[in-house]
Amino acid sequence: MSGTLTPTNLRADYLVNPMGIQSGAPLLSWELSGDGRGLRQTAWQVEVASSPDALTAGSANLWDSGKVVSGKQSGIAYEGVPLESRARASWRVRTWDGTDQPGAWSQPSHWEVGLGGGGLGVFRVADWSAKWISLPMAPDDPLPGGINEGLDALVPTTLVRRPFTVQRPVRRARLYVTARGVYEARINGAIVGDHTLAPGWVDYNRRQPYQVFNVTDLIADGDNVVAATIAPGWFSGYVGWRDNSRHYGTEAQFLAQLEIEYDDGETDRVATDQDWRASDGPARYADLIMGEYHDARLDPTGWDAPGFDDSDWRRVRVSTPNSAVLVGDLSEPVRALEVIEPVNRIAVDDRTVIFDLGQNIAGRARITVSGPAGSIVRLRFAEWLQEGTLYTENLRRARATDTYVLAGGGQETWEPRFTFHGFQYVELSGDPDVIATATAVGRFVGSDTRRVGHFECSDDRINQLYRNIVWGQRDNFLSIPTDCPQRDERLGWTGDAQVFIRTATTTMDVMPFFRKWMVDVIDAQRADGAFSDVVPNAVILTHSAPAWADCGIIAPWTLWQVYGDTRIIDDCWDAMVRYLDNIERRNPDGRWVNDRGNDFGDWLSIDANTDKELIGTGFWGYDARLMAEMARATDRHDAAARFEAMHRRVAEAFVAAYVAEDGTIRSGTQTAYLMALRFGLLPDHLIPLALEHLVADIRARGTLLTTGFVGVSYLCPVLTAHGHADAAWDLLFQDRFPSWLYPVAHGATTIWERWDGWTEHKGFQDPGMNSFNHYSLGSIGEWLMASVAGIDTDPEAPGFERVRITPLVDHRLDHAGATYDSIRGRIASSWRRDGETIHFDVTLPPNTTATVRLPNPGGAPVIEGSVPVETAEGISGVRARDGVTELVIGSGSYAFRVG
Ligand code: BGC
Repeated sequence: MSGTLTPTNLRADYLVNPMGIQSGAPLLSWELSGDGRGLRQTAWQVEVASSPDALTAGSANLWDSGKVVSGKQSGIAYEGVPLESRARASWRVRTWDGTDQPGAWSQPSHWEVGLGGGGLGVFRVADWSAKWISLPMAPDDPLPGGINEGLDALVPTTLVRRPFTVQRPVRRARLYVTARGVYEARINGAIVGDHTLAPGWVDYNRRQPYQVFNVTDLIADGDNVVAATIAPGWFSGYVGWRDNSRHYGTEAQFLAQLEIEYDDGETDRVATDQDWRASDGPARYADLIMGEYHDARLDPTGWDAPGFDDSDWRRVRVSTPNSAVLVGDLSEPVRALEVIEPVNRIAVDDRTVIFDLGQNIAGRARITVSGPAGSIVRLRFAEWLQEGTLYTENLRRARATDTYVLAGGGQETWEPRFTFHGFQYVELSGDPDVIATATAVGRFVGSDTRRVGHFECSDDRINQLYRNIVWGQRDNFLSIPTDCPQRDERLGWTGDAQVFIRTATTTMDVMPFFRKWMVDVIDAQRADGAFSDVVPNAVILTHSAPAWADCGIIAPWTLWQVYGDTRIIDDCWDAMVRYLDNIERRNPDGRWVNDRGNDFGDWLSIDANTDKELIGTGFWGYDARLMAEMARATDRHDAAARFEAMHRRVAEAFVAAYVAEDGTIRSGTQTAYLMALRFGLLPDHLIPLALEHLVADIRARGTLLTTGFVGVSYLCPVLTAHGHADAAWDLLFQDRFPSWLYPVAHGATTIWERWDGWTEHKGFQDPGMNSFNHYSLGSIGEWLMASVAGIDTDPEAPGFERVRITPLVDHRLDHAGATYDSIRGRIASSWRRDGETIHFDVTLPPNTTATVRLPNPGGAPVIEGSVPVETAEGISGVRARDGVTELVIGSGSYAFRVG
C-alpha cells in the first residue's frame, strides 16, 4: 500500500524558493496534505540536486538523506555537499505514514546561495568585485514654501547608470544589489523586482544585507543599461526624533553586481565602479520622516534605458569598503502592497481637499492630477481630523509632507518611492483647477509577511478590535518591528516587540522577520551583555531597561515555542548567557537593583504605579526560567541546572522583598500580581491569595484594567489559566475607559499607543507622545487565538507538534473561531451555540495531535459526528473532570456536540 501524505509548501530557511542564502545549512520544512484521521509521518527522505532535471531523473547529486525515521517536518538542516556561492539547489521530499511504501515526491523547490562574505558555506571574497559608488550631494536651495528649511540632510536622490552590451545568448543573469541608503534598481527601463525601501534597516556599520534578483528575462541582445535610484533611507536620512540624521554616514551609496552566464558557459560581470555615471534625480529630496519632493519636470526620460545621452552626467565617487559584512537578506522584503480606496472626499476650500481612507495605514498616497507644468501639489498626512482639518501635532517634528511638481500635458499619476507615512487622511492642496479634479488612493507599505491567522466571532466590536491588532502589526512591521509609523520616531523598541511577539505569530508568519531582527538585537548588545532599548540602536543608545532588554531572551523563546526551531536558541545562546551573566554580576543578592538603564516601568499604565525594582527582578526570574527551558531543549544540561537554580534564587528574593504572607505584593497593582503569577515566582500557597488580590483590584475598579505595556499581555491569559476566565471576558467586553473596546467605540482602526490617546472627557492626550498606531496594547491578540478560539501550542511539544485546543465559551457570543496556519499546516477551531447545545469544530493537519478540552459544566454526553466521542474514530483518552471533557485527537476534521 502506498503512503497517503504529500508534502506541500516546501521552504528553505522559512522562505519559498529563497535566493541569497548565506548559511551552509539552510533549514528545510514542509507541510503535509492527506485525507483521513490520525495521519502521521513516520519517516522522510530529502533529495537535493544541482538542477530540477537531475532531481526528476533520480540523481540527487548534492544530498540524499535516505529514509530517516522521524516525524520531524521542519528545522531539518541540509547536510549535503557544501554549496558554493551562486549554487542553486533543487530539492524534493517524500514521506512515509507508517505503511511500507513512501508517498509521492513533492513538487521540486529550490534555494540559491548568495555571494561570499561570511556565513557557513564555501564563499570566496573574490565573489564581490563591485565597489561602493555615490554622488556627493549638497542640500537643495530653499524650496517653495520653505519646506526644506533647516533640514540639511534633505538632499536630492541620485540616479546612477551603466550601459553594457550582450552579444551571446544568455542562460541566466542575477543582480546582487544593495545600498547604504535605499535603492530601486532598473534594467533597460524596467524596475527590478517588487521590493521597496530595500535593503531595509540594520546596523550598517556591522552588516549590509543585499538582495538577489533573477534578471535573466530583462537582459536584451545588444545594448543594455543597468541603473538605479538611491536615497538616504535609514542610512543618512532622518531617523528618530529631534531631527536626528546621518546615523551611519553622510551620503547614500550603491553597490551592485550583475552577473551574466551565457549559453556557452562563459560569464560576464557588470559591477559598480568608477565607470558608472550619476546625476541628481527628479526628487529634490526623499526622506523617510520628512517626505518626498518630486519635480516631474526634471524626470530625465529614458535615463534607465539604452540610447540615453549621459555625456553631461557626472563621475561617481568610489568609496572604500567599511567593515560591515555583506549578508544575503534573511527576511521578507518590504513591499508596497494593497491599494486603499478612500471612503470620503472632503472639500475644505477650493485649494484644499482631504481624502479619508477609512483606515489608518503605513504607506503612501498615489495621486492622479492634471494641470500646467510647474503647478505644485502638496500632500500632508494625519491620523485624525480636528474640526475638519488635519490633526498633525502628534507627528512632532516629522514633516511628513510630499510635494509633486507637475510635468504638465495631461493626466499624471505619482506615488513617492523613498518615504512612508502613518495616516488615515491625506490632504492635497494646490491650484484650484488642479485640486478640483485631483484624486488620491492609499498604498499600504510593509514587510510582506505571510498572513497565517484569522479570528472571527459574533460581536463586531471584537472583530474590529482584532482587525485593529492586525493592522497595528502590519503598519509597524516594516523591515524591523517599529513602535509607530507616523511621528519622528519609528524605532525598534525592544519592549514593544517583546510584549507583542506572541500575538504577532498568531496573525503572520514572522519567523524570517524576527530571525533577521534577532541578529540586529545581538549586533546592538553592549559589550558587557546588556541588550538595548531600541534595535537597531540609533538615537537612543541606552541598554538594559527591564522588560525592554529582556526581549533578547523572550523573543527567541517565543519563536522556539511557536516554530519548534531550536536553531534560534543556538544562534542567540551566547548572547543570552552574557545578558544574564551581566545582570547577575551586578546584582549579587538576586534582586535587579543596579543597571536598569532607562527603567521605563510598566509604561503607560493607567492610574497604577508598579515598583520598578520589582519589575526588573520579576523579569530576571522569568528570563532564568525560559533559559532553563531552552537549555533543556538543546541538551545543555549544566546550563539548565544553573538557570533553574538562578530562577529559584531570584524568585525567593522576589518573594522575600516584595510579597507579604497574605499574598499582597508591593505596589498592589494588577501588573505586579500578573508578573508574579505568570513568571512562576510564587510558592504554591501564595498563588490563590495573589489571585484573589488581582481579581479584587479589577472588580473594585468596576472591572477595569490598569496595566501598561508590561502587564497588559498577561492579563487575560493569567486570569484564564487560574480559573478566572469570567474576569477576562468581562475585561474584553468592557467598553468604558480604559479598555480595549473604548478606542473601538470611538472609531479606532488601529491599536493606540495609550489607553487615553483620546477620551471624551479630555480629548487628545499630550501630542508630545500620542500615536494612534502602536501595537503593544494589542497583545490581547494571543488570548483571542489561544483561548477564545482555543488554538495554542503545547509547551511540552513546541511548534504545534502537539496542539492544545481549549476554546472558551461565553454567553455574550453566539460563535467564535479561528484558523491558524502553523509551521505544520492549518489548524482550525470554532464553536457556536444552538440553544443549549454547543458545537465545536476542530481540524488538525497531518502529523499533529491535540489535547482538546471542551467546556462541559453539566457533564453532558459529548457526540462527535453522530457517535459518542468514546467510540469515534481517531479519538482517545476521553475523560471528564472539573466541568471539562478532555480528549486526544489526531489529524483530521472533527465535529463535536456538547449538550
Ligand atoms: C515609544 C514606545 C517605547 C517607549 C519607551 C516611546 O517613545 O514609542 O513604544 O517603548 O518610548 O519609553
